[in-house]
Amino acid sequence: MNVIVVAVECAPWSKTGGLGDVVGALPKALARRGHRVMVVVPKYGNYSEAQDVGVRKYYKVSGQDMEVNYLHAYIDGVDFVFIDSPIFRHRENSIYGGERPDILKRMILLCKVAVEVPWYVPCGGVCYGDGNLAFIANDWHTALLPVYLKAFYRDNGLMKYARSVLVIHNIAHQGRGPPDDFLHMDLPDHYMDLFKLYDPVGGDHCNIFAAGIKTADQVVTVSHGYAWEIKTSEGGWGLHNIINENGWKLRGIVNGIDTTEWNPKYDVHLKSDGYTNYTLETLETGKPQCKAALQRELGLTVQDNVPLLAFIGRLDGQKGVDLIAEAIHWIVSQDVQLVMLGMGRRDLEDMLKKFESQYHNKVRCWVGFSVRLAHRITAGADILIMPSRFEPCGLNQLYAMKYGTIPVVHAVGGLRDTVVQFDPLRETGLGWTFDRAETCKLIDTLGNSLKTYRYYKESWKGLQNRGMSQDLSWDNAAQHYEEVLVAAKYQW
Ligand code: GLC
Repeated sequence: MNVIVVAVECAPWSKTGGLGDVVGALPKALARRGHRVMVVVPKYGNYSEAQDVGVRKYYKVSGQDMEVNYLHAYIDGVDFVFIDSPIFRHRENSIYGGERPDILKRMILLCKVAVEVPWYVPCGGVCYGDGNLAFIANDWHTALLPVYLKAFYRDNGLMKYARSVLVIHNIAHQGRGPPDDFLHMDLPDHYMDLFKLYDPVGGDHCNIFAAGIKTADQVVTVSHGYAWEIKTSEGGWGLHNIINENGWKLRGIVNGIDTTEWNPKYDVHLKSDGYTNYTLETLETGKPQCKAALQRELGLTVQDNVPLLAFIGRLDGQKGVDLIAEAIHWIVSQDVQLVMLGMGRRDLEDMLKKFESQYHNKVRCWVGFSVRLAHRITAGADILIMPSRFEPCGLNQLYAMKYGTIPVVHAVGGLRDTVVQFDPLRETGLGWTFDRAETCKLIDTLGNSLKTYRYYKESWKGLQNRGMSQDLSWDNAAQHYEEVLVAAKYQW
């Protein structure tokens, strides 16, 4: 099939979180399965590997003419098309920033442009055309694409065969805005009902995700657990009724990981400063070496037998970092070290800095975003804590398992799907899970993991072994996406 993946971020060029990773990796896996795959994303910075394709177009957004150029790079079997327009430029550090009207304009422009890219941008000299074509849109930012496809291209036969799949990475963000937002979208009046939503939180409002979910041919979310959760009033953030009505076309597919980037055997960030690459076979020497290098790099005492706990993630309510904060007295009362990496809410950033100075002999908190340090912590730590309140999929627990680092997680969404609870009697499972996002549960569960670390070395090795041996690559997930694309194609 011809597949066009559309999103606002794509690693390594633009990334604020897991969405960027998925958009960087899934297309390559689909290409490996023999599909012709294009990725369409905004161009925020200067991407030296991309060439201007020499096509100029103008699109009207909110009555304003916007010029668009296209850049192209062919990498690992995928056509990456970067949309260059003044409205996207220099936004690499604020992809979601700005005032509401400006954000809306960017998302409208991206969707209007992306839907016509298969006609206008010749990749390798030929255009994708519209036969056998499917778009994969991601999150609310591109949820307008299925709507434009239906309103202007499908119903009138211009792209009769094109299909759309909408992937929900996080339903908490929906593109909610005032009812007047609809007027900026240039859609026929009768489309307004698709967007209209009332709920106690937003009142009467215009909801872009709702319209996309209703219109897409198929809807995917990034784990089975999350597919179930978004049907409930707690997990659906006001869209649960719409999800339930459209449940027949919803499917959960757990994300894969990019095993070239996240693989202790090849990891480029482990090649210097005393770190080392390792595999399951060299785990017993390689991982302690990484742990020592990490302790040295962060200025912690180098001690192999002291369990090193880690947290990596956005600092916000979703990630449950406040639970770690509430547990901090208990944590520092144990013979452990704790490393935290992340940025986000100012109050949480300040709190981490305070912990570091207060418990300097045991705790290091790195406020910011560092890909290199994320890799090094994943390799050097013994335990990764993910107390997320909700987690559609979660990638860090997958990375951790690949590096022999044992996850301790709140059993929710993708975390519940991917981290099977350790069973000491049968010696099965991959980590520890707790069933409520509460501090006492976290402490209890961490306590169990620490006991196993200290007194049951063979069980610990078994956990590492099972985690590292899993096939977490995208090839698996890509096969399921292919089934969804086929379902969309044959659905009339
Ligand atoms: C979002 C979700 C995260 C998921 C990622 C990629 O960031 O919060 O759970 O792993 O998208 O799908």
